[in-house]
Amino acid sequence: MSTAYGNLSGRTAVVTGAASGMGEATARLLAAQGAKVALLARRAERLDTLAEKIAADGGQALAVTADVTDDASVRAAAARIRDAYGPADLVVNAAGVMLPNPIDAGRSDEWARMVDTNLTGALRIIDAFRDDLLAAGAEGRPADLVNVSSIGAHLVFPGYAVYSATKAALTHLSASLRAEFGPRRVRVTNIEPGLTDTELGGHIDNPELSAQLDGMFQAFPETLTSEDIADLIAYVTSRPARVNLRQVIVLPTGQA
Ligand SMILES: NC(=O)c1ccc[n+]([C@@H]2O[C@H](COP(=O)([O-])OP(=O)(O)OC[C@H]3O[C@@H](n4cnc5c(N)ncnc54)[C@H](OP(=O)(O)O)[C@@H]3O)[C@@H](O)[C@H]2O)c1
Repeated sequence: MSTAYGNLSGRTAVVTGAASGMGEATARLLAAQGAKVALLARRAERLDTLAEKIAADGGQALAVTADVTDDASVRAAAARIRDAYGPADLVVNAAGVMLPNPIDAGRSDEWARMVDTNLTGALRIIDAFRDDLLAAGAEGRPADLVNVSSIGAHLVFPGYAVYSATKAALTHLSASLRAEFGPRRVRVTNIEPGLTDTELGGHIDNPELSAQLDGMFQAFPETLTSEDIADLIAYVTSRPARVNLRQVIVLPTGQA
């Protein structure tokens, strides 16, 4: 990747969903650019391996096992990060789950999990790091909140009603938060990716919808990679503090 990201050195980042996919790639890139990066997800082994890789490449990373659906877990993670690294100034909400099924299936277990991870989980993280971000803004330092929403916030896919609803809510939350945080010099960026090759589809338990998603990946010669999203996040968070790319829809070129 040849882009110069400017001023990420010295930033203190928190990346949720860092065990895989976009979160992992973002954590690696931010660390490679000189940021200290706290890695949050539930799979401790994945985080430990990633932290070791980042350290071997000369970066700084802290593996923090945490479940964004659990208040106490998020609070404990935030305390641990502050002890190790001090206050955060760059927070990326990439943790998410996608569990499609027709509404007729009545999968209230999946609905609850998606709402609690994709929306309330992001809110728990925002709540835990809000004061850090606002303090950075007040001190004239760069401060970023990045929420990874989805193109699903705008499109209609049968079977994906609840997933898309959580992403539409996250998109709206990001826009609303700009009104509260922007005047206090905290940037809020909402990223809305299209098809990206990650583990996200691996949790689908509906064989038809799983096969349909596989078919969508096969239909495009090239989908996005996690590194493409990491590149975008590093780009938006390294602009001059006055510049806020507030909403970015990023699609594979071949995805209509
Ligand atoms: N892939 C796509 O095509 C696409 C398109 C648009 C938007 N997105 C969004 O992009 C974000 C990243 O997803 P991805 O595509 O990179 O998929 P992924 O590889 O499955 O990453 C999701 C990450 O979230 C973590 N996670 C899930 N539940 C969690 C919880 N309760 N607490 C903490 N961490 C949790 C997972 O780690 P653990 O299991 O270890 O906790 C995993 O690292 C998601 O919000 C997704 O909705 C993806």
